[in-house]
This record gives sequence, C-alpha cells and structure tokens, in this order.
Amino acid sequence: MTITFVGHGYVGLVTAAVFADFGNKVYVIGHTKEKVDNLKKGIIPIFEPGLEELVKKNIKAKRLEFTMDYAPAIPESDVVFIAVGTPPIKTGDADLSAVLGVAEQIGRNLSGYTVVATKSTVPIGTNKKVQLILEETKPEGAEVSYASIPEFLREGSAISDTVNPDRVVIGSEDPRAQKILIKLHEPIKAPVLITNFETAELIKYAANSFLALKISYANSIARLSELLGANALKVLEGIGMDRRIGNQFLYPGAGYGGSCFPKDVKALISIAKDHNYSFSLLEEVENVNHQARRDIVIKARGMLGDLRGKKIGVLGLAFKPNTDDMRDAPSIDVITWLKNDGSKITAFDPVAMGNATALMPGINFVTDMYKVAEDADLLIVLTEWNEFKELDLKRIKKLMRNLNIIDGRNIYEPKTLRDLGFNYVGVGR
Ligand code: UGA
Repeated sequence: MTITFVGHGYVGLVTAAVFADFGNKVYVIGHTKEKVDNLKKGIIPIFEPGLEELVKKNIKAKRLEFTMDYAPAIPESDVVFIAVGTPPIKTGDADLSAVLGVAEQIGRNLSGYTVVATKSTVPIGTNKKVQLILEETKPEGAEVSYASIPEFLREGSAISDTVNPDRVVIGSEDPRAQKILIKLHEPIKAPVLITNFETAELIKYAANSFLALKISYANSIARLSELLGANALKVLEGIGMDRRIGNQFLYPGAGYGGSCFPKDVKALISIAKDHNYSFSLLEEVENVNHQARRDIVIKARGMLGDLRGKKIGVLGLAFKPNTDDMRDAPSIDVITWLKNDGSKITAFDPVAMGNATALMPGINFVTDMYKVAEDADLLIVLTEWNEFKELDLKRIKKLMRNLNIIDGRNIYEPKTLRDLGFNYVGVGR
C-alpha cells in the first residue's frame, strides 16, 4: 500500500519507518525545511534507539520518502495518517490547530478513494470535526473514509512497541475503511479492537490516565512505606504479583513526566469538566505526582538543612531513560525548586543536555558524569539511565564533599551505599 504520515514526531516518524519496513511505500510530510532536509539524509530530530538505522535502511530501499509537499503524496496514498502534535494550552485542553490545519491540506489534495486516520491524541469529538473538514475541502469526485487509530508506543522503546503492541484500536464504523486498515495492520500480531470514533479517542486518554494513576498509587504507597518503615518496592512487588493488578507501571520515583501522561491526565480532567463531571480521582493523581517531585526537595532539605550555597549534583534530566525528551521532565521542577532555595546545581544527562540547556538557565552542565560529584554536598539521581547504575561509587566517594545521595529512581542497593559510607535515601525504602 502507499501511505502518508503528516508529522514526524515520535509517533509519525516511528510508525512511518515501521510501516515502510513492512514493505509499504511511505511518504512523510513535514513543514520545517531544515528538519525535512535532514530527514532526507537520514538525520532524525529525536533520540530513539534503533530509529535512525531503520529510517536509513528504508530510505535506501526507496520505501520511505520525506517531503514538504502534499502532492503527489496524498493523491497517491491509500491511507493517510495525521500524526501532528496536540500540545496543551493553558486550560489543559489540547491545541488542535495543527490537526485541523493539516486536515484541510489533506482534504484539498485527496484523489480517488482514501482512508484518513488520526494517530494524534485528540479530545473526544475532534475526529468528527476532522471528518467534516475533509468532506468540505475534498475535490469533486474524491472519496474519503475517516478513522481514529490511537497510538500506544512509548518513547525509548517506540519501535518494538509499534511492531508488538498489546492491541490495535481502529475507530471507524465504515466497513470499507475497516477492511483496508485491518489489511494494513496485518503484519502486526496483536488483537484488533474495532469501535467508533469517540470510543477510540477515549481509550487513549483512559489508558494513559490509568497508567498515571498506577504510578501515583505507587508513589503514595512509597510515601506511606517511608512513614511506616516498610519497603515500598516489596509492597508493590507483592501487589503486582496479583495478576488482576499486574507488576507494570508500579515503580515509585520522582513522579511521571513526558509529553503524554501530564498532558493527557490534564486533558481528561478538562474534558470531564466540559461535560459537568468532576474527575476528582484524576485531580488527586496530579497532586500526588506534584508531591513526588516536591518530596525530592524536602529530602534534600532534610539532609542538608538550609540549601543556600550548597553544591548539588544531578544525574539525569530526561523524563525517562533512552530519550532526550525534556517535556515536563520532573528534573525541571526539582532543579528549579532547589535553585530557588539557593543551591548551586551541576547536572549531567547522557543525551538530554542539549534540550535541557534552554529550559534551565544558571545550571552548570558537565559532559563527564563524574564531574557532577566534584565537591558536591549531595548527589540526586532523577533518571534511571543504565550508565548511572554502573557508576564507580568508590570514585564518587572520593570526589564528593559530603556523602549524601538521594536516589529518586531507586537504582542503587541501599545497603551497598550505606556500607560505603553514604547517607542514602531512596523513594519508599
Ligand atoms: C506513554 C504511554 O506509556 C504510551 O503507551 C503512550 O503511547 C504514550 O505515553 C503517548 O501517549 O504517546 P511515554 O510517555 O513515552 O509513554 O513514557 P512511559 O514509559 O509511559 O513513562 C512516562 C513517565 O512515567 C516517565 O516519566 C516514567 O519515568 C514514569 N514512570 C513510568 C514511573 O514513574 N513509574 C513507572 O512505573 C512507569
């Protein structure tokens, strides 16, 4: 089949590369010349393990083509995916201008019969609007079916999540579109759930919000464990063994971040409010998440007292490992609060420092992870990168002024650290 993706963020670029690898001819439309020119050369704008190789391989095989033009990509395509961003506006609602603008451009370029599907996470009801725009803008003679196909991939494991998802959700009640979309997804061995637009849209928000809820639950259990002298990791392991609960997304830490959970929880609260339903459960999920970030600063004060003039080294800035994404990373809040308390911050991240620089003025970024420990009064781990797990702690010990460690992601064994002479605090243990 011939497919077009409009948008080359995580979702657009990864899914395009995977569908090209399945043997389809895939166009990717972007709107920034520099990015599109780079993509043509196989230079990708994001850090995602395995993606650059996959993109290069499929460009070489002439299955993957990047362009800024809607023609000939749209008229040639059997299926067109909208995969542009929906960043939150101040109210928590999603900004739909990119999705709606792109729909208009696609509409004008349609030819023959085309299935247009949205991958972007959009509030319930948006897809009906998009369908209307397509119907209004399409040239005479062109036919269009519309579907909502939410994406469930995670940054850092985006390729395998796309090739081996837990399910494919196809939101379309049109049998002709269903048939084409089922065929397109055939190489993916996962159950297919067919439903209407609204249900597909809500599945995405409900899934992300439920995962955020699990994390906030884990963070609440962690806080309670600290107060009770229990080990939260064992408590959560113990409850996760119950298959009805499951052991995933129950790791406590400095809180969830990224471009999805914070945004989607906020959006679902706002969507509910628009329909006079107060989703107070999710408001509490947000509060707990905020507190999980705050607790890192409270622990720092507990260890050092007054933070003024204290030297704090931060290991990890990205919202999670294997990504350079800094969107709503817990590190932004934590570092801002520590700085407001008067401490001096030195920070290191294996790949996110480029993106972090603009967000964190006044921070000393270093390119060697051991440099964060030099003369430090406290070391804080905020992202669980593998290289931090392998840190030479004896070397760290020699470098630090005071041996305090806050392990915001529980990557170290408390006993090992304490035996080495560190004053160690994790999350929930
Ligand atoms: C999330 C969902 O997991 C994907 O299914 C979804 O497709 C995606 O959002 C999206 O809507 O596009 P992502 O944000 O890439 O994916 O990353 P996750 O691996 O879900 O992690 C999100 C945050 O939760 C991170 O800050 C991570 O550190 C935190 N987390 C995760 C925890 O604190 N504890 C856990 O047990 C798991």
